[in-house]
Amino acid sequence: METVSIGIITLSDRASRGEYDDLSGPEIRRYFSERLKNTIEWHYEVIPDEPDRLKSLLTEMSDNHIGLICTTGGTGPAPRDITPQVTEEVCDKILPGFGEEMRRVSLQVVPTAILSAQTAGIRKKSLIINLPGKPKAIAECLDGVYAAIPYCLDLIGAPRMEFTAKGSDAFRPKKK
Ligand code: MTE
Repeated sequence: METVSIGIITLSDRASRGEYDDLSGPEIRRYFSERLKNTIEWHYEVIPDEPDRLKSLLTEMSDNHIGLICTTGGTGPAPRDITPQVTEEVCDKILPGFGEEMRRVSLQVVPTAILSAQTAGIRKKSLIINLPGKPKAIAECLDGVYAAIPYCLDLIGAPRMEFTAKGSDAFRPKKK
């Protein structure tokens, strides 16, 4: 079974200054640890909401063959929220369905979900997914799109994900 590399980038001015502990990044780690049988190599960074920092990290992670990169934070309307815009800039291809579905499921939980411009896209052989900055938003959003992530990674040539019982709702269409 292949080792899967997962990147986690937390965008938060305050967490990056050490004013509070990042809880959303570890929540992403917990989510995938519970669902994957593969050995996971984690690449975790907490950075301020600076476009250049995010751009170089996303570029570096995908150049280094990290198949799945999740960001958390910086998806809202405040002036320093730049995550989706930078994601769109670095991606070769945007997959709008991820953002649409994550907002749809989130709106059933919180009316302010509409404020998130979260999106997803492909850069080289990496799938980049934006998540909001609240720890509870991580599972709320990932539950909406998780089933399609492993097949998406197959299609872009990233290492194959194998599932635990908890991840078995992931869906791969039958070969034609
Ligand atoms: N989505 C989910 N599932 N749960 C949430 O609590 N919070 C919303 C929204 N999406 C939320 C959510 C709020 S209040 C905001 S401002 C936006 O995400 C943007 O958050 P961010 O800037 O931390 O990314």
